[in-house]
Amino acid sequence: MLTTLLYIGLLCVILLVFGTAAYAGFRASPWLPVFKKDIQRIVTLAGINERDVVYDLGSGDGRILIALANNTKARLVVGYEISFLLYFWSKVRVWFRGFSKRIEVRYGDFLNRDLGQADVLFCFLTPKAMKKLGLKFQHELHPGTTVISYSFPIPGWHAVAKDHPDERHIPIYKYIIDESMQSVTIEKH
Ligand SMILES: C[S@@+](CC[C@H](N)C(=O)[O-])C[C@H]1O[C@@H](n2cnc3c(N)ncnc32)[C@H](O)[C@@H]1O
Repeated sequence: MLTTLLYIGLLCVILLVFGTAAYAGFRASPWLPVFKKDIQRIVTLAGINERDVVYDLGSGDGRILIALANNTKARLVVGYEISFLLYFWSKVRVWFRGFSKRIEVRYGDFLNRDLGQADVLFCFLTPKAMKKLGLKFQHELHPGTTVISYSFPIPGWHAVAKDHPDERHIPIYKYIIDESMQSVTIEKH
């Protein structure tokens, strides 16, 4: 009886870990962390100040959350993560690094959450997810909100800045929401 219960428990854990990771890949992107060497480029391009609430949509192992809390004066850093193992691991990392007051890791699907509270959003997701998010952002984000997208642009949007020193680097796009959603492209390098 005990062995059966143990097997059922183990099966549930395996389903939770692998099932939610597979679901993440299907919903918006599988887990692939940003290169550590690019984190400072992201932080610099975002231009975060002490009033800002910053979101990472699909926060993975929490590396961007911790870098944002560590290297900026952001008031609050929020990560949404749907893969259970990554959610749990990033919570532990945040706690160990002593950032529990400034970083909130939330379990859930950011596609079903209202993102209107964010002043700055960071995304590293698939082109398909960026297309879906473009429409969501237009409805929910307030004018002045900054969106930073690592690697993939938002289809049909004009970036106000693009950090792409050369072909060996991954491009990073910056968008700012305005009333009319009209922005100009300025190549940073
Ligand atoms: C490419 S990884 C980026 C991780 C992290 N932002 C980074 O840059 O290191 C995308 C992350 O989004 C998560 N994810 C995918 N779809 C999601 C959804 N709908 N809601 C919440 N998280 C999601 C995945 O589990 C994965 O951790």
